[in-house]
Amino acid sequence: NNDALWGGRFSEATDAFVQEFTASVQFDQRMAGEDIRGSRAHARMLGVQGVLTADEVNQIDEGLKQIEAEIQAGEFEWSIAREDVHMNIEARLTDLIGDVGKKLHTGRSRNDQVATDIRLWLRSQIDAIKGQIQRLQSGILTLADEHADLIMPGFTHLQTAQPVTFGHHLLAWYEMLDRDYQRFDDAQSRMNRCPLGAAALAGTTFPIDRHFTARELGFDAPTRNSLDSVSDRDFAMEFLSAASITSIHLTRMSEELIIWASAQFNFIDLPDRFCTGSSIMPQKKNPDVPELVRGKSGRVVGHLMSLLMLMKSQPLAYNKDNQEDKEPLFDTVDTLMGCLMSFADMVPAIVPNADAMREATLKGFATATDLADYLVRKGLPFRDAHDVVGAAVGAGVANGRDLAEFSLAELQAFDARIEADVFDVLTLEGSVNARDHFGGTAPNQVRRQVAEARARLG
Ligand code: ARG
Repeated sequence: NNDALWGGRFSEATDAFVQEFTASVQFDQRMAGEDIRGSRAHARMLGVQGVLTADEVNQIDEGLKQIEAEIQAGEFEWSIAREDVHMNIEARLTDLIGDVGKKLHTGRSRNDQVATDIRLWLRSQIDAIKGQIQRLQSGILTLADEHADLIMPGFTHLQTAQPVTFGHHLLAWYEMLDRDYQRFDDAQSRMNRCPLGAAALAGTTFPIDRHFTARELGFDAPTRNSLDSVSDRDFAMEFLSAASITSIHLTRMSEELIIWASAQFNFIDLPDRFCTGSSIMPQKKNPDVPELVRGKSGRVVGHLMSLLMLMKSQPLAYNKDNQEDKEPLFDTVDTLMGCLMSFADMVPAIVPNADAMREATLKGFATATDLADYLVRKGLPFRDAHDVVGAAVGAGVANGRDLAEFSLAELQAFDARIEADVFDVLTLEGSVNARDHFGGTAPNQVRRQVAEARARLG
């Protein structure tokens, strides 16, 4: 016999290596607060239902509070022999209050217990993640507002396409993050069902009140099916999917920052505090923060793959495989929080270089579409206008001049409908100001979107 909590059925102690190999306390102790919270709610419910006496519930409650204090003070002795956070805490409770501690697990299993703990833990971590997303969004809005008029090239295929405002580009980032926020919010609402009371898989013979514990723990309702309750890890997969999409968004922003900060673009300056130098090349200032954020996405997406593979083909209900769900979740939360926090600090500190942006926009025939649109307004079908402007751009490329640098007579050689007012549309300001509709790049619209977004953020 051994003294493990399941010792009764066993005739020899667990192999030392197996004990170490199957233990999870090294990492799941991170959910100790949630485990205690769940146990206290469970014990209270057993009291209300008459399964435990009021005195027993009281002793359990006091014991659990003391354990929580020990853990917070760093005095709790975690033991591999007690396998996981659940059994460490339960065994300690019995050390402290004696046999009454052994009654806590009445009508409960570690299977519904762990499913409850992870949901509680993840739910509050998502609150923190959503907070960082909003902090980053509000930094983006500050910068976008400051630079609502600043003109830069907009790209497609990383080739100059049309002039846009820097503020407008930043608002595109804002929108990506807005959807990320909603995805987390949505995942949270689906995960907010309480599995406690499903016990091992089939429910329990005790007269439990699952609505009571669900309410006590701030869940919207109990889960509806006991088998599903202990086998479902959808909420974790969903969280990792949302985290992966957010990480991928951060890589797109990172990539742009890295390109913009290069000497060849020189669109922005990243403050020194977010960069590092080279140990050999004295001139270097490397955009480490966006590079690292770009790199860390690999971990997050990797964790999503781990969890998907973990769940693939698992027969119902609980399997020990599921113990492997925690480390990917924990590391994803830590990684994503770090990425969001560094971005939220860094983004408002970005200093754009207006001259370089302007120069780049002037070089790329960015107003060619404006000229085509101008000809359409003068009566030419768009496809023909496209042709005419294509010829003008060809001539510009051949002699190294932008469309705005042609004389009126030169432009009229391409199409007689062109008049002096053409220069209004060929300027960069004319181009962005003309896109003055909902969602367009005009400074007007950028300011309006900033104001609306600020109102939404609150
Ligand atoms: N440490 C386990 C986990 O993380 C707790 C549940 C164990 N249940 C069991 N029947 N072995 O999933």
